Amino acid sequence: MCGIIGYVGDRGAVQILLEGLTRLEYRGYDSAGIATVMNTGFQVVRRVGRVSNLAHTVNELHLGGHTGIGHTRWATHGAVSEKNAHPQQSTHGLFNIVHNGVIENYIPIKSFLLKHGFKFSSDTDTEVLCNLIEYHYNKEKDRENRFVKSVQKALFHVRGTYGLAVLCKECPEELVVARKSSPLLIGIGDNEIFVASDASAIVQHTRSVVYLNDGEVAHLTKDDFSIITLGNDNVHAVTCELDWQVEDTDKGPYEHFMLKEIFEQPVALENAMRGRFSDDYSTARFGGLRMSAHELRQVDRILLCACGSAWIACLEAEYLIERYARIPVEVEYSSEFRYRNAPLDKNTLVFIISQSGETIDSLAALQEAKRKGFRTLAITNVIGSSIARESEGGIYQHSGPEIGVASTKSFTAQICVAAMLALYFGRIRDMSFDDGIRFVEALRMLPDAVKKTLSQSDNIKKIAEKYAEYTDMLFLGRQSLFPIALEGALKLKEISYIHSEGYPAAEMKHGPIALISEKCPCMFLATQEHILQKNISNIQEVRSRHAPVIAVVADGHESMRDMVDDLIVVPDVHPALQPIIATIPVQLLAYYIAKSRGCDIDKPRNLAKSVTVE
Ligand code: M6R
Repeated sequence: MCGIIGYVGDRGAVQILLEGLTRLEYRGYDSAGIATVMNTGFQVVRRVGRVSNLAHTVNELHLGGHTGIGHTRWATHGAVSEKNAHPQQSTHGLFNIVHNGVIENYIPIKSFLLKHGFKFSSDTDTEVLCNLIEYHYNKEKDRENRFVKSVQKALFHVRGTYGLAVLCKECPEELVVARKSSPLLIGIGDNEIFVASDASAIVQHTRSVVYLNDGEVAHLTKDDFSIITLGNDNVHAVTCELDWQVEDTDKGPYEHFMLKEIFEQPVALENAMRGRFSDDYSTARFGGLRMSAHELRQVDRILLCACGSAWIACLEAEYLIERYARIPVEVEYSSEFRYRNAPLDKNTLVFIISQSGETIDSLAALQEAKRKGFRTLAITNVIGSSIARESEGGIYQHSGPEIGVASTKSFTAQICVAAMLALYFGRIRDMSFDDGIRFVEALRMLPDAVKKTLSQSDNIKKIAEKYAEYTDMLFLGRQSLFPIALEGALKLKEISYIHSEGYPAAEMKHGPIALISEKCPCMFLATQEHILQKNISNIQEVRSRHAPVIAVVADGHESMRDMVDDLIVVPDVHPALQPIIATIPVQLLAYYIAKSRGCDIDKPRNLAKSVTVE
């Protein structure tokens, strides 16, 4: 949510900031702004709307400077307007700040500052923080470290979350940055230093990075940086190398990141599995779980927590782990788990799934589980993300950067990892060697089956064009394809703004059937052989109420063509992996419907890629 970029070095800051903001735009796109600082003072430009609006003005004004900060905003406090865009400036013009997160106690701080003569021109909590920094700066006695100390002292009084970067008029070759529950990393270049909320903004300049931890404040100049805690301890910085390539963050020949990422799924799945099968190929293995087989055998319940599509991936994990490992699983929305105080037995293992590893609700659920003393593991895509670092162990998806706001390749990779976990847990319990071998063989054939399904994209595009003007749609599936019905509905509503719902196919007649008419197409996910007849009965029920029907079936069931309006035939795979195959048609359908409707597919309205506010 919101994106931050900062630069201090010898090059002109403006183009670096604009380029970074363009790459960060998927984080938030209500408004954008940059500020640079020179000996002559600040230059600040803010604009409502996209980064391209901002770039237009910035280029016309020929902004200069070698030190600067930039921001793309997803509004939390205050309407979407220029005055609420970042950077926010302090009353006496000494500071400019960009900030992700929420300052919860901004109201009492604002009253305090008003009494001390500070003025406010926006509705943001960020401006309050900026003025608090100025207040402490004016009182700071340590002249040498005045800038960093004033930020540190201001943050000491703040309750809430922040990833922030600050410029000071009196220190034009310095930047101060800090984080608490909102990601921030420092990129180390040659005589230049970058800061960003997301590696995609700086990977074209450097791959050498330091992730800031919660409660740390860093002081940056072009050739050096130091980190202290809010409690004033020095921090030994650990530098790591990003495993991303610059090309990973480009669209390549695709019109949208979402389409590129849909087509990357065969490779993403291969990457999720690479090096993770045992030498005799009868089970999976994971380097990062940090729990022995003996400890894992003591686990008698698994609780999975996540948000959005990752929560739907948890539902798939529930089917997989219960069926193949016979361990009871429960799935919770992270935001519900955190405040529900659910009773958990001591042998419960808490698993968080999060593509970004930064979703605040999931991070908070993880912290709550840890606080209560549970073992915690996580499946994440972003190496070094907060959830990856705070969980006791975990599994990286290795899907590569996902830029499209709608999650696609990360969703199928999460299910693939869940299938491997089910196999691993199953093999340390009751799954036979033969069944393990069959499971592994099926997993190894999965990327090819996904490729075959993707080869139907032209057919799915034609189908999508027929349904683009409807206003409602139902997605129906049974058993492990029920979560994919939910995912289909989420994808469609998210990027095309068509009202859609996912339901268990049999449950449809207990309520949603009231919606069925010729105006409400139904997409059936019906690739399971053993319940095909049951799905056919449900198809008849909606057809007799005149609903247009699209069905996804497995190879060998082409005869269903006579029974439905549109048929998509996909490869027949191991039952555990059918959900992954069935996901491809729902992704493509949503994509092509949104495209037909002229929607902004990679940046759907009101959404942001990673939700770092509660
Ligand atoms: O980064 P996370 O996996 O924690 O994100 C969770 C959700 O915000 C995310 O899956 C969201 O629902 C997507 N936009 C769905 O396409």
